[in-house]
Amino acid sequence: MGSIVLFGPPGAGKGTQAHRIMEHTGLPQVSTGDMLRAAVKAGTPVGLEAKGYMDRGELVPDAVILALIEDRIQEADAKNGVMFDGFPRTIPQAEALQTLTTITHVLAIEVPDERIVERICGRSTCGQCGAVYHDTFNPVPADGCACGNFQEKRRADDNENTVLNRLGAYHEQTAPLAAWYDERGLFHRVDGDRAIDEITHDLLGVLN
Ligand code: AP5
Repeated sequence: MGSIVLFGPPGAGKGTQAHRIMEHTGLPQVSTGDMLRAAVKAGTPVGLEAKGYMDRGELVPDAVILALIEDRIQEADAKNGVMFDGFPRTIPQAEALQTLTTITHVLAIEVPDERIVERICGRSTCGQCGAVYHDTFNPVPADGCACGNFQEKRRADDNENTVLNRLGAYHEQTAPLAAWYDERGLFHRVDGDRAIDEITHDLLGVLN
């Protein structure tokens, strides 16, 4: 067994698909964004350092991210691999990751830039179970979240200005990883500008 990387711009649907794929692979989701938000909330030194970068929509320095990942993949549930969501985001992060675990697939969810702002600005998540919703495209069911205890959360960085910066950081620093993983035969592209179920179907098809 090895690890999977979910790759794509902000709002591509990495978190949405991670929840669905997790049920099939059993691999735990490791989201550096979620880890950083937890650190910010807890007021840890990592959180204090990361907050300004996140608020501006810039990438947090590689050293901070790699320290988090090195700790996380030593945990017991990671021994058969994990599903990375939002990591790696730079070539130095990808190079360091090669020394930590075997990557079997990089699944790229491709979504045009013009879709990103509307997706992100309509997002909510359930604070109880982490399910991801959208005001228009994937609303909370009328009878509530599947976990039975929907607690609406909206992210501080889900505003138009910050999203445009996040998109800029993606194109400049993260998109070059596509060629890097392609050269290693690991990169698989899936059209992310479709219904959520169709995308899940294709991602699982690549993994099978
Ligand atoms: P992070 O939390 O990773 O945010 P992101 O990459 O910007 O990705 P998102 O979580 O916004 O989007 P997603 O692809 O998961 O989409 P989702 O499924 O929610 O990072 C935040 C910040 O932390 C960064 O800016 C950076 O500062 C820092 N950071 C994190 N990792 C780092 C790293 N490795 N290195 C350096 N810094 C790092 O979907 C979005 C919305 O669209 C939802 O409302 C959803 O319901 C909807 N949706 C999903 N799929 C569809 C569909 N097919 N059709 C219509 N709507 C859809």
